[in-house]
Amino acid sequence: MIDIVAGGELSEASADVLVVPVLGERNWGPGADWAAEQLGDFLSDYLDEIDFQGKPGAVASIPVRDRLAFKRLLLVGLGEKPDLEQLRQAAGSAGKEVTRDAAVATTLNQIDLAGANVAVLEGFLLSQYRFDKYRTEKKPSKVESIALLGADAAAVAAAGTRAGVTAGAVNFARDLINEPPAAKSPTTLVEVARGIAAAGGLEITVFDPSQFEEERFGGLMGVAAGSHQPAAMIVLRHEPPDPKGFIAIVGKGIVFDSGGLSLKPSAGMETMKTDMSGAAVVLATMQAIAALEVPVRVVGVAPVTENMPGGGAQRPGDVLTPRNGKTVEVLNTDAEGRLVLADALSLVAEEEPDLIVDAATLTGACPVALGEKIAGMWGNTDEAVDQVRTAAAEAGEAVWHMPLPGYYRKNIDSDVADMKNTGTRYGGSINAALFLKEFVGDVPWVHLDIAGPARWPDDEHYQVKGGSGFGVRTLVRLIENVASRRP
Ligand code: BES
Ligand code: MN
Ligand code: ZN
Repeated sequence: MIDIVAGGELSEASADVLVVPVLGERNWGPGADWAAEQLGDFLSDYLDEIDFQGKPGAVASIPVRDRLAFKRLLLVGLGEKPDLEQLRQAAGSAGKEVTRDAAVATTLNQIDLAGANVAVLEGFLLSQYRFDKYRTEKKPSKVESIALLGADAAAVAAAGTRAGVTAGAVNFARDLINEPPAAKSPTTLVEVARGIAAAGGLEITVFDPSQFEEERFGGLMGVAAGSHQPAAMIVLRHEPPDPKGFIAIVGKGIVFDSGGLSLKPSAGMETMKTDMSGAAVVLATMQAIAALEVPVRVVGVAPVTENMPGGGAQRPGDVLTPRNGKTVEVLNTDAEGRLVLADALSLVAEEEPDLIVDAATLTGACPVALGEKIAGMWGNTDEAVDQVRTAAAEAGEAVWHMPLPGYYRKNIDSDVADMKNTGTRYGGSINAALFLKEFVGDVPWVHLDIAGPARWPDDEHYQVKGGSGFGVRTLVRLIENVASRRP
């Protein structure tokens, strides 16, 4: 647990580490001006010596033990006109520089932006994440406390709660994603979901394999057929009194994607424990909105199973019927995400929410198009796309709107069924989105393909290599926006 406190005025503060922003070379931000004045030539000589130009993301770490009431000064480059995400990233970069059990004080929150306190705390908290569970030697925690200087106690308490909930939810998703596949069977994820429901006062329904036939979960049954692990359809509900709207969120929960009989090559399988990231994002988002008591009705659905090539596995050529009755020819068992999502999307579409958003590590083609740090976004109405685009921008997650052209629909035409689960190689992510569209009816819907950013490829700012929890902040923000922007 990291203590979050209001730190009083800088000139009277003391701590192990002081973090202050620079807006460019020797362009001091709040607090940095004070430190520069106190340190005089010492600081300018030091910065000359290490050639610190204060570029965005750069951090200068300066021992100041005998000169200030701090052991170390961290100057963090922020750029001249930072936005909230740059602030969050700068806080993350500073958080990574802190070494052992430190009391940190910062003036980063004094950058003049609405939401600065929360962004700074989120950046710090997210940067401290590590997945140590399976190491015999744990690394000690780095940050013990964070003091926001010059902020009043009530504002810091509110920001601390908000950032604690969002960063806590993201870190919870990161843990689930980083967990080895054998340790997160569908049954385990069901237990995790029950825990979230109990803690947050959410309703939960779990459909088990004995109910799949009756529920017409043909897609989930097809994918689950090759695994010994019983699959599940998890449905969580947040039902506040007097809700301001009704949102459905759906997440792909393939706990391991071997490809099934259309087996992946070994290299492609290495990271396929990540294939339940969408489900992790849904569980984490439900946890956060319950904690924040957001006055919006939300249903969160996660179809969870393994995609394995066991003796009972579905074969290329098999035909499935997902819940809405449309038929699907399975030509590649590795295009399994769209099959389980077909059931989940059909299920929530029946309830006619105002908006459905799904998050899925759906196609390798998506990071080919956008790289690993940007999610692809598709939607069936402009308004729905705008809503998610705005939420993502406000949350600081990168999404890019992609086309859903009707004239590509023939790419998924089947010789024997209503559609096939593969398409042309070119535009593979679009073909997948067109497939999903068949299962949402007329309900406004947005699909986020998080195959790239679900797993961060490197350590940078507040991101930590591995499961990222990408999508949680966008979905929480989206639901909060529904609460605040409606009469
Ligand atoms: N889970 C994968 C997509 C994926 C690939 C996510 C790489 C993250 C990194 C998905 O189930 C899959 O295998 N998709 C196939 C679809 C194809 C067979 C039509 C793909 O992208 O190759
Ligand atoms: Mn696959
Ligand atoms: Zn997959």
